Amino acid sequence: MAEPRNRYSTVSLILHWGIAALVVTQIALITASDATEGPISREFVSVHKAVGLSILILTLVRLGWRVANPAIPLPPGNPRWQRLLARATHVLFYVLLIGMPLGGWAASSAAGREISWFGLFNWPLLPLPQSRELAGQFMNMHELGAKALYVLLALHVIGALKHHFVDQDNVLHRMIPFIPRRP
Ligand code: HEM
Ligand code: HEM
Repeated sequence: MAEPRNRYSTVSLILHWGIAALVVTQIALITASDATEGPISREFVSVHKAVGLSILILTLVRLGWRVANPAIPLPPGNPRWQRLLARATHVLFYVLLIGMPLGGWAASSAAGREISWFGLFNWPLLPLPQSRELAGQFMNMHELGAKALYVLLALHVIGALKHHFVDQDNVLHRMIPFIPRRP
């Protein structure tokens, strides 16, 4: 068996990379919707909603898994501010991975728009007053969340690459196990 503290568990890896792929899909779907018009454009948004709610569920599963299987500590050596920045980035990622779907869900609910989960069933709407203004406010928060997500993603990837190429430690290896482990 692999040394347990050297990399994340297979479940954590699947959840990290699965959710990361779905987040990229979300951005692609909105880009596709913006680039098209009519029913096809609305279909992209409809799939965006279903994928977004799936991210919400997977993130709740992920947090549950994380409580049961705490994260591996970062290797010693990085200054305290970098460790705090990494921690803050991770916490804010979780806040957005929950907050963005909730905001989108609330916007659709306040606008009285049905949410179809991949055509299989209608996702229940939140009991909110029907108000276009309220829906608009939730959408503004959703757009703000998207901007914050881009900043976090940039910080996160820069941090991961810095660990790999500058610090030359095993932080990237433990999230991408096929990258060879350094001695
Ligand atoms: C939207 C895409 C992504 C999201 C939402 C995301 C989110 C996260 C979160 C929340 C953690 C903390 C895990 C925990 O301890 O609970 C994490 C860890 C990590 N991520 Fe990402 N990630 C994304 C993309 C990436 C990419 C593209 C890379 C590689 C370039 C990457 C590399 C890592 C690494 C190496 C760790 C482990 C850090 C450590 O061991 O402390 N992630 N990611
Ligand atoms: C983690 C999950 C999600 C991410 C990362 C995400 C991301 C985004 C992004 C980047 C945009 C474009 C914002 C802009 O115009 O600047 C957007 C728009 C939107 N999102 Fe989400 N979203 C998520 C979940 C949801 C959910 C669950 C719903 C609804 C149930 C939703 C509904 C919408 C709607 C209605 C728009 C506007 C589409 C249009 O232009 O007509 N999103 N989202």
